[in-house]
Amino acid sequence: MNQIRPAAPETLPARLYRDPELYQTERREIFARSWLLIAHESQIESANSYVATNAAGFPIIVVRDKDGTIRAFHNVCRHRAGPLADDGQGKCEGQLVCRYHGWRYALDGRLASARDFGPAEGFDPREYSLKGVKCESWRGFIFINMDETAGPLSKFIAPLIAKTAHLPLEKFRFERQTTHDIKCNWKTYVENYLEGYHIPLVHPFLNSAVDASKYEVDVSAPVIFHQAPPRDGSPVGGLWAWSWPCLGVNVYADGILMERMWPVGHNLTRLDYLYFFPDDIERAVMERSVAASEITTEEDRKICESVQRNLDAGIYETGRLSPKHEQGVAWFQKEVLRAIG
Ligand code: FES
Ligand SMILES: [Fe+2]
Repeated sequence: MNQIRPAAPETLPARLYRDPELYQTERREIFARSWLLIAHESQIESANSYVATNAAGFPIIVVRDKDGTIRAFHNVCRHRAGPLADDGQGKCEGQLVCRYHGWRYALDGRLASARDFGPAEGFDPREYSLKGVKCESWRGFIFINMDETAGPLSKFIAPLIAKTAHLPLEKFRFERQTTHDIKCNWKTYVENYLEGYHIPLVHPFLNSAVDASKYEVDVSAPVIFHQAPPRDGSPVGGLWAWSWPCLGVNVYADGILMERMWPVGHNLTRLDYLYFFPDDIERAVMERSVAASEITTEEDRKICESVQRNLDAGIYETGRLSPKHEQGVAWFQKEVLRAIG
């Protein structure tokens, strides 16, 4: 009997990968409406500690107060848009003090004092609290959502919660962050992450470790799981996943790598790698694991930048996606189109 094979879906048109206006639409319609991993609780373990980062062009700060409550705000002062903290981890002294003119905010966001403003200035500080954003934790990982009407995080990442229920995520602590700038549109990088079709050509080392011909992609929207059996026959352990819109989740026996794929502009993507390891891991094992993922990233950087150059050249318009290998890419592209309308 003849089998009817699904038609190979067409790719998104190349112009969607080089359009600065579309990038602004994506910031608004995708990144400002999704749950985004921002930090881990072990990065802000003590009172008054914070992490500040730039999430797709939105400066965000998460801070822990003396009672242990974690809150998130736009890292934007209500006076004249100064920053409350530079990007990175740090500690404040019970208040967030704007770096520009020194307005001081309590850690619940209320404006505590506006330097050299008094009653005569006729302004009510209660109207100038920091703009808050939703903030929820999942097993130590802190996510934010800028959309006040967003549903709970647990619903958004439900497939991830279910598939990791048996994994001991709590034994891992934040170890370090590395950052890689890739000169391509964020979608170019994400799509590369969502398929194993390129492994035999782009990643010789990874290809020697896993059997890419048996690579499997399972779309449990909005999470996409990947699997490839190790060539040495050892059982597949851990987890290799991606969650809409830009988070890679890699859980191994001896570490976790959370990969954020932030757009910085329409033609630049910033990868933030957050590495987590158990306390008792040997230094050499940890460094080997970091080095291996940095090699793979360098290989992906090269190919994604070449692809972006060709998307920018104006020759390629659309192509076809493999129904066998690129169903994750197909789902992502459909979701992008849905989100941007
Ligand atoms: S911009 Fe923050 S105090 Fe002026
Ligand atoms: Fe790759």
